[in-house]
Amino acid sequence: MKRRITLLGALLWAAAPLSGKETAVATLNLRETLQATWAVPAADTAAGGGPLRVGRVTFARGFGTAGGSRLELALGGRATRVQARTGVDDTAGELATIRFLIVGDGRVLYRGPWQQRGGPAVPLDVPLAGIQRLALVADVRGEPYAPADWIEPVITHTGAPPAAVAPAPGAAPAAALTPAGPPRFAATIVAGVRPGRPWLWRVGVTGAGPLAVTVAGLPPGLGFDPATRVIAGHAPSAPGDYRLRFAAVSPAGRAEQEFLLVVGEMIARTPPMGWCSWYCMSGRVSDAWVRAAAEALGRDGLADHGWTQVNIDDFWMTRPAADDPRRLELAARERLGRPAGYYKAAIADPALLGPARDAQGRIQPNPRFPDMAGLTAWLHARGFRAGIYSSPGVLTCGGCTGSFGHEAEDAAQFAAWGFDYLKYDWCSYSLETDGLERADWRRPYARMGAALRAQPRDLVFNLCQYGRAGVWEWGAEVGGQTWRVAEDLVDTWGAISAAGFFGEERDRGAGPGRWNDLDQLMLGRIGWDRKLHDVRLTPDEQRTQFALWCLRGSPLLLAGDPAELDGFTRALLTNDDAIAVDQDPLGRPARRVVLSPTLEAWVRPLAGGAVAVGLFNRDEEPAAVELRWDDLGLAGDWRAHDLWRGTVDPGRRNWSGAVPRHGVEFLRLDPFPP
Ligand code: GLA
Repeated sequence: MKRRITLLGALLWAAAPLSGKETAVATLNLRETLQATWAVPAADTAAGGGPLRVGRVTFARGFGTAGGSRLELALGGRATRVQARTGVDDTAGELATIRFLIVGDGRVLYRGPWQQRGGPAVPLDVPLAGIQRLALVADVRGEPYAPADWIEPVITHTGAPPAAVAPAPGAAPAAALTPAGPPRFAATIVAGVRPGRPWLWRVGVTGAGPLAVTVAGLPPGLGFDPATRVIAGHAPSAPGDYRLRFAAVSPAGRAEQEFLLVVGEMIARTPPMGWCSWYCMSGRVSDAWVRAAAEALGRDGLADHGWTQVNIDDFWMTRPAADDPRRLELAARERLGRPAGYYKAAIADPALLGPARDAQGRIQPNPRFPDMAGLTAWLHARGFRAGIYSSPGVLTCGGCTGSFGHEAEDAAQFAAWGFDYLKYDWCSYSLETDGLERADWRRPYARMGAALRAQPRDLVFNLCQYGRAGVWEWGAEVGGQTWRVAEDLVDTWGAISAAGFFGEERDRGAGPGRWNDLDQLMLGRIGWDRKLHDVRLTPDEQRTQFALWCLRGSPLLLAGDPAELDGFTRALLTNDDAIAVDQDPLGRPARRVVLSPTLEAWVRPLAGGAVAVGLFNRDEEPAAVELRWDDLGLAGDWRAHDLWRGTVDPGRRNWSGAVPRHGVEFLRLDPFPP
């Protein structure tokens, strides 16, 4: 095999034992690759299935990945060099910009040039003496899922060949739960409800107990139960601002909080917060498991920090038994990148089969949900809001009954059952439309939006069509309050980066009542059909995700099973100061300030003149940073409050410190003097 090598490479090559063996990386277990989509890289193939093609040259050997990716190899110190060529696949879009890195034992050994589509493959030849763990990394900019090709990557080694391995998760930074002290109210301090509609609010408050909680200023029609701390009833019929006053007293202290209830047309004045069944229960979700999840949110105290939305995703309804197999196949195929057959087990389960609708046309829950109204009543009694899922097509993404042709009945049914939220997932609707113009993408959502609006209760409407046709520009016009702006997530750095670091221009129109949904928070333990694993993100990557979602004002819907949260995740999810950034009543998402190709700040103005800043290091190594506030367009003096550590930095003009690899420094700046 002929390839160009660098001078240093040539010297090392000469020094290497001639008996060195060569192992082609593409022959190793490529399933270990972490990349931005669920698809698994295949040998000798670009992401998307075609040949590897870079700069109009086709290559027979290598492997392609989708978006930011990482493949780790255990070398055992036996390797002498890695050689490859790298390139942006010719199927990439114009904006795709990719840099390939070789990382050995946590140090960047090779940092390639930023490459673009059409350019030639770039050779690399990197000595590896003594390296135990090697990572082949593609760092992607401009286009989140751009195909990145490793051409003929070969490791030269002695002894046993290298093995592809799962990256080690890394130690969790010290993140103790805030010790229970004086009472503190949850971060959300404003809510909206339409005139005369049912309204439910769990007054979240934490601190060393026992806590006596009172609510003053409630308009007639709403009552507070101090035992459950739930406000329930009907909103006044007169639009306007109602100022409620929460107070909590304990032996450790006292807290007061004004809470603004705005009676009017706008609901979801702050992004919804809670949990959704999809990434941990998927095709096996059931009434019992949903209750268990809600119970865990209550028991672990998450509900007291505002995690009160409980959403049932796909697979609560029947699967039509006498299905047209063609439709099912099309519906399944349409969502590229799904792991092959991941919901096969659920489909094979005869318990799910049944008529789609009864004689009156009513959609049928499957036997795992024996009593929908009973379930929502149970959730409401504990202060949780209930969410449900459907599709504008005949089938959902999982092949269960969708709402096509029955939108009005289904909206009425969801409201009658007592649901407060609907996620409406495009999937098989492509079968029902001739075109894919913006009007075609809008039509089914406008239909369901109007049907929901006609109900006697408020349902938050989430448009799930993966950010197509500029949904952030028209989602609110069709009655939506939140809309997904990206593809389904995977628990990888590539996927979190693809959703979180891209598309900030979409956030410009976001704000109270209209939120861009970056998809669920990949935190805790997830897995199809409740075969759970710890998310494959390092603790710093998890913090990065949480901070980005908060800065961008995304809904915060936990993906992990609430019954299985570890201490680090719980500390992250109960960080009221971080949550307050997401739930800030001003509702203006952050703007991005690019400081270097790997360092960026996201800057979010907060109500009352404070500013939240996330300083993100997207590099493979820690970064030493000197940041002046005026680099971010912030004039004057500011006092920096460290949202991870709870400390206050005396620096008024700047911040300096180290930001870990893939990590974030998350700060709130308060004007100084105050
Ligand atoms: C789509 C959505 C996911 C989930 C599944 C259910 O992929 O994007 O969030 O709802 O369908 O099948």
